[in-house]
Amino acid sequence: MARARPSWDPAHLPDQSGRTFLVTGANRGLGYFAAEQLARAGGHVILSGRHPNRLAAAHDALEARVAGASVETLLLDVTNPGSIRAASASLRGGIFQRGRLDGVLMNAGIVHTPRQREVTRDGRELVISTNALGHFVLGAELLVTLAKSAARDWTPRLVWLGSMSTRLGSYEPTDLQLDTGYAAWKAYVQSKVVVQALGLEADARLREAGVPVASVIAHPGYSIGGRTAIVTGVNEPTPWKRFRDGLQAPFAQSKERGAWALVRALIDPSVQGGDYLGPRFLTHGAPVRQTPSRTSSDPEVRRRVWEECERLTRSEWPFARAARVGR
Ligand SMILES: NC(=O)c1ccc[n+]([C@@H]2O[C@H](COP(=O)([O-])OP(=O)(O)OC[C@H]3O[C@@H](n4cnc5c(N)ncnc54)[C@H](OP(=O)(O)O)[C@@H]3O)[C@@H](O)[C@H]2O)c1
Repeated sequence: MARARPSWDPAHLPDQSGRTFLVTGANRGLGYFAAEQLARAGGHVILSGRHPNRLAAAHDALEARVAGASVETLLLDVTNPGSIRAASASLRGGIFQRGRLDGVLMNAGIVHTPRQREVTRDGRELVISTNALGHFVLGAELLVTLAKSAARDWTPRLVWLGSMSTRLGSYEPTDLQLDTGYAAWKAYVQSKVVVQALGLEADARLREAGVPVASVIAHPGYSIGGRTAIVTGVNEPTPWKRFRDGLQAPFAQSKERGAWALVRALIDPSVQGGDYLGPRFLTHGAPVRQTPSRTSSDPEVRRRVWEECERLTRSEWPFARAARVGR
């Protein structure tokens, strides 16, 4: 497997003119700053989120901060299968006019997980539903569209949001919805083990089926709002939060910097399916290629997680069709 180029400079990205990217959870945090970096590099960016006012604020902020940005918004709640399917359908229509979808950054997530177990409207545990199941369905919905956009010089990408927390303990995902023994931290770490396992299993299945789409995983280290630039409507930490987050300066970074690994995973030409990127110093630093945790790379865990996600979402990835259209 080729190594990601060590010379990557997040401040000077390759020109992305003519490419279209979808970012989930793009109205704030890492998703917003990744979208901003993609737009600054000339890409067309579709900001998606679950709330129209928050999306409008992010849209306005991005246009104000990036002269000439090409950006649009799309309502998409990743815990709602109907919303995912509706957004994917309208996306397919719009993208046909535009011609292509070059990458999806599957970023939306809950970081501060609820203390007590909560469920979505359709009865699924909230954290796994937001962080993993929704994007599993989104990947299935957009796979053929992505494959259609493959070109001689470009393999479209799906980028999954992993976490360094997956290195803390084994957290083998046996009970995805934590029907018993729910704890906030456990729900988060397990959901990220699941996301990483899905990203690696997707890579294996895409290769086996000959689909010209790459599945890549990125993690942002430890990126916090109080170390991040103030952007009206997007990032407005209180003075107390800025002070508190400032105390973590030696090991925390801003969300702008956290987005570097995500953006590299999405556009560095030397990144390949199955690659795993994160900050050089684990919690912070320039994005480099790393090794995912043992549990999420275990082929047996990966297979089990994939099949369980198929069962829970009643959704299967259309590998054969994507391989046909991608030829
Ligand atoms: N920050 C870190 O240090 C860190 C570390 C490891 C991994 N990550 C991962 O990076 C991703 C982004 O984290 P962040 O720090 O940027 O978090 P954040 O600032 O809390 O932003 C989360 C984003 O996800 C959106 N979201 C939440 N639930 C959603 C839903 N049901 N449908 C659609 N969008 C939804 C939020 O939208 P609303 O504004 O509507 O809530 C928001 O735009 C997450 O997957 C997280 O697990 C972050």
